[in-house]
Amino acid sequence: MKTIAVLTSGGDAPGMNAAIRAVVRTACENGVKVYGVVRGYNGLINGDFIEMDLRSVSDIINRGGTILYSARSTEFATEEGMRKAVRTCREKGIEGVVVIGGDGSFRGARDLSERGIPCVGVPGTIDNDIACCDYTIGYDTCLNTIMDMVDRIRDTSESHDRCAVIEVMGRRAGYLALNAGIACGATSILIPEVEVDIEKHVIERMRKTQRTDKKHFIIIVAEGCGVDVHELAKHIQAETGVESRATVLGHTQRGGYPTVKDRVMATRMGNYAVKLLMNNIGNRVVAAQKEDVVDYDIFEALNMTKTIDMNLYNIAHEVSI
Ligand code: F6P
Repeated sequence: MKTIAVLTSGGDAPGMNAAIRAVVRTACENGVKVYGVVRGYNGLINGDFIEMDLRSVSDIINRGGTILYSARSTEFATEEGMRKAVRTCREKGIEGVVVIGGDGSFRGARDLSERGIPCVGVPGTIDNDIACCDYTIGYDTCLNTIMDMVDRIRDTSESHDRCAVIEVMGRRAGYLALNAGIACGATSILIPEVEVDIEKHVIERMRKTQRTDKKHFIIIVAEGCGVDVHELAKHIQAETGVESRATVLGHTQRGGYPTVKDRVMATRMGNYAVKLLMNNIGNRVVAAQKEDVVDYDIFEALNMTKTIDMNLYNIAHEVSI
């Protein structure tokens, strides 16, 4: 392929810029023309393209967010929207597209691929919920951000002998909650993959640790559990007598400068994606597995399922007591 495009779609994630940089630089260095698509699939539909060069991506490796902006396109979900996107690609001579985003974005990439524009997906989401990947761009930064913020909450909880009930993102998955919970020594971690039992998983555990003279507590709740953390804090206070406060970390978790891991992996995956397209290989998803970067057929990738590491869940609760 001699002309490609790159877009970011869905929730932004720290490290997306590093991936864009890698895509653009790899393409430029290999004589491939590269367009940046503004605001994800909406930009593809509206023909909102920027021709990128080596300097278009200077000084972005350290920046959170995405310089190409992102969107969750409702129009692209329609047949007409997809047809328009194909048309604008053809008009610009775009032969392949690198899609940086989560599984919703990959479904868009699959649909575009089916309509004759080969796409390569690069996993970018804080949620780490893409089945074929051990890790997704932004996950590591987000975990570190959560850890930093929970550490701060711990300082004040400890000073006041309180219980901090903290909601973290993750959409329907508990990867952020589980790993941040371990890193922060949470007494209880509620994740959607394990049926929520407040009495057993929170109240009984707190009572048990109270008997060992523990006076302050951290409870991490994944948003996907559907638990109202404000109500939970009131319940804990009523049941245990421990003054409790709830915090929803919200979108602070999505911002900030990316960690080393996110920058390095985004660079490797962006580079890998362009190499596939340069070799006329499309309809793939780039994935990180252990320390390797590999690729999967996009249909196969979307049909895979991912399970939470229950051993890790058990270790978390065995140790944080
Ligand atoms: O997928 C990333 C994510 O931050 C989820 O963790 C969260 O559920 C969702 O996006 C929030 O979406 P929005 O920014 O549209 O509110």
